[in-house]
Amino acid sequence: MKNKDESNKTTVVKVDSFGDKEEKTNSTETILVEKREKVGLITLNRPKSLNALNRQLAKETLSALKKFDSDPDVGAVVIAGSPRAFAAGADIEEMAEKTFIDFYMDDFLSSWDEVRTIKIPIIAAVSGFALGGGCELALLCDFIIASDDAQFGQPEIKLGILPGIGGSQRLAKSVGKSMAMDMVLTGRNIPAQEAKEIGLVARVVPKEELLQTAIEAAQTIAGFNSPSVRMAKSAVNMAFETPLDAGLKQERLLFKAAFATEGQKEGMNAFVNKRAPVFRNK
Ligand code: HXC
Repeated sequence: MKNKDESNKTTVVKVDSFGDKEEKTNSTETILVEKREKVGLITLNRPKSLNALNRQLAKETLSALKKFDSDPDVGAVVIAGSPRAFAAGADIEEMAEKTFIDFYMDDFLSSWDEVRTIKIPIIAAVSGFALGGGCELALLCDFIIASDDAQFGQPEIKLGILPGIGGSQRLAKSVGKSMAMDMVLTGRNIPAQEAKEIGLVARVVPKEELLQTAIEAAQTIAGFNSPSVRMAKSAVNMAFETPLDAGLKQERLLFKAAFATEGQKEGMNAFVNKRAPVFRNK
């Protein structure tokens, strides 16, 4: 699949498909990795299988995310799929013959959990199917922007299994028990508009505007002071990981910490002096 918006300035980042060590060759097989100004763009690229999430794709995506996270020139990431599918789930062919012992000895499911270690914001740009692991990957991102034809679902139950990369937990936290039960137990897909109504997605846009909208949202975020952005992301995440009291304490601590940043001085000074702030990510 070709880069969808070639008019934008792009820099190809080379990612080693076997880990984090070196930027060696343009060897990603399952994703495309680009930088668009301050935004890292990861495009899932297995269109023939509707971007089914195989082991290689997990490895390459995590490696690319970690590289962007440690790149001082990148302030946010967009993960996109292809027009027909963000991702239609974990690769069923790859999983079909697996045994409990296979999963137990090589727990690639938990590797997806490493997305939680990424400090810069990640936006999922979802068009077409986001099913099973695809829906779960979107939920692992910080927020979802969907095209009007997007469909979300957890159809694992139809395969005799259940969500395995956090769907039962993140979906329930995101949309509440009743809706999560409906989706996980009936396996039905829900359209973009309904996903927006239940709070699963942040915005729904026309399909042709999806990538641009997601990139613009990421550019906006990347334009703010990076330490404060990371603190804000971490504070919101606390709401999903701790009791209210601990979350409030952590928010107050981070709020105070923001006053140790140059960005706070610059942001407030710029406001007072009626000028645009210039953040230096300090
Ligand atoms: C492997 C897949 C796939 C998947 C689609 N394909 N989804 N291959 N794993 N999850 C392949 C098809 O086999 C087919 O290959 C090609 O993509 C196009 O799909 P079609 O079925 O022909 O397209 P369509 O009729 O439009 O139907 C689209 C669809 C359907 C509704 C999305 O493909 C579908 O139901 N897919 C499976 C969805 C699913 O159950 N996801 C959950 C997986 S389990 P060929 O070679 O025939 O062209 C899961 C667990 C996560 O995600 C937790 C553990 C990691």
